[in-house]
Parts: sequence; structure tokens; C-alpha cells
Amino acid sequence: MTKEEKEYLEFAKELSKEAGKIMLEYFSKENFYSYKADKTIVTEVDKKINTFIIDEIKKKYPGQAILGEEEKYGKSAYTWICDPIDGTAMYARKIPISVFSLALAKDGIPILGVVYDPFTDNLYSAFKGNGAYQNNTPIKVNNYELEDPNSLMNFDIWPTAEYNLYPILEILGKKIYTVSIGSIIRAGIEIAKGGFSLAIFPGTKDKNYDVAALKVIVEEAGGKVTNLFGEEERYDQSIHGAIISNKVIHEEIVKLVKENLK
Ligand code: IPD
Ligand code: CA
Ligand code: CA
Repeated sequence: MTKEEKEYLEFAKELSKEAGKIMLEYFSKENFYSYKADKTIVTEVDKKINTFIIDEIKKKYPGQAILGEEEKYGKSAYTWICDPIDGTAMYARKIPISVFSLALAKDGIPILGVVYDPFTDNLYSAFKGNGAYQNNTPIKVNNYELEDPNSLMNFDIWPTAEYNLYPILEILGKKIYTVSIGSIIRAGIEIAKGGFSLAIFPGTKDKNYDVAALKVIVEEAGGKVTNLFGEEERYDQSIHGAIISNKVIHEEIVKLVKENLK
């Protein structure tokens, strides 16, 4: 890694730890929350963390853009993409599963990703071409086939999801044990660590925040991340769903999705 790349990564890691502190500080307190148009929830803490991230990046890299899920700033070839709390529905219910996520994209393609779980104090990070890590330990995807009893899949759905993945769930649900842990980013991290084999995600508008950091972390851990049609995406704009996998089963899932997407 170049000196500049190392500096980016160290900076992102420091920010994620600070963001995690804010998450923990307010976790047990009463938090004001409201609902967005897609019926997902947002709390004061999401906004507080988003503002903190914008302020810090503005100070360190004034020319760069920041796309936060709750607040945005600037325009540049270098764009920071931040999901201040992923799993806010769990956070608001005081279920400790949420994570903080930050990616740096160059021309829409993520080159750095960090995800911090403040509840277990685990920091997941990757810089393109340099492997993926849990704290300082390298992580790797598993190599299980779809129907291996060790395989687990995460499936997310919400009332306004644009793609109807139920026909696919019906097929996959008979092949692989399926869970929904309440944070697609935490689930994606589990793929990078080898705990899960697959996640299927129907997100489009404003759901690039959910996949940007995973794109680097999962792929640097040996996995694969594409949209639902097996294509690459830019992550500084809306996406066309996501398939996040251990790579071994990726093409099989893309085929199944293409054949059955309604
Ligand atoms: C949500 C979570 C959830 C997924 C939703 C996301 P948020 O993110 O990742 O698992 O089903 O689509 O929007 O709103 O908690 O940042
Ligand atoms: Ca999210
Ligand atoms: Ca969020």
C-alpha cells in the first residue's frame, strides 16, 4: 500500500471507532426516531454520526465528496459513502446488532471499506488489493456449496422493496437455511468471515450505502459482490439489488435470480 492509501485506511478506521463510541453512548438512552418513505426507521443518533463524519472528512480531505445516508456534501471523483447506523430498526429496539459503515469510492468504485461493530469492538477493513481484516487478523470467505449443511443465507425484505424476490426465496429456502439478522452490512461481514455463504438484497434507491463497504471487504476476503443480475455497479448512486456471496455459488445464484425474478 502507498503512504497515501495507508493514511486513508487509518483515517477511516479512526472515524469508525469514534462513530461507534457515539452509537454506544446513546444505545441505552431514549432516542427520538421517525420513519422514512420506505418505512425504515431513522434516529437522532444516525443523524449525529452522519454530521460528525461529514465534519471530520471536510477537515482532513476538503476537496472530497461525502454521501451519507442522512446527509450529503460536495462532489468529487473521490466519494466517501457512509451508512452511519446499519440496522437502525434493531438499534431503536435496543438489540445490539447494528454496525457503522464507511467506504471510499473512486469514480463510483469502492477502493476502501470499514465496518465497525461497537457492541463487540470488532473493526472490519479492507483496501483494494490488500486483503480483508477483522482487527489485525486476515479474514476469508468459506467455500461451501449452496446445499452444504454448513451454508447459511441472509434475506432482507421490506414493504417498498422494488424487486419481488419471494419466488427466489421459495426455491432457495428449500436448499439453504435462511435468516434475517436485521443488518445487511453485518450479514455481509459474516460472508467475509466465512460464517454465511450468501446474502440476497433487493435494495435499489439509497441502498448503495448498504453495499459500498461490503464490496471491498467481501471481495478482498475472496467473495463476490454484484447486483442481482451479476453485473458490476457504481456505489455513488442507486443500485439494482445485490448478491453477496462466497464466490463459489455466485453464478448459480445469478442464474436462479435471472430465471425467477418477477
Ligand atoms: C437497513 C438494514 C436492513 C435492510 C434494509 C436497510 P438501515 O439499513 O440493513 O437489514 O433490510 O434494507 O435499509 O436503514 O438500518 O441503515
Ligand atoms: Ca443501511
Ligand atoms: Ca442507516
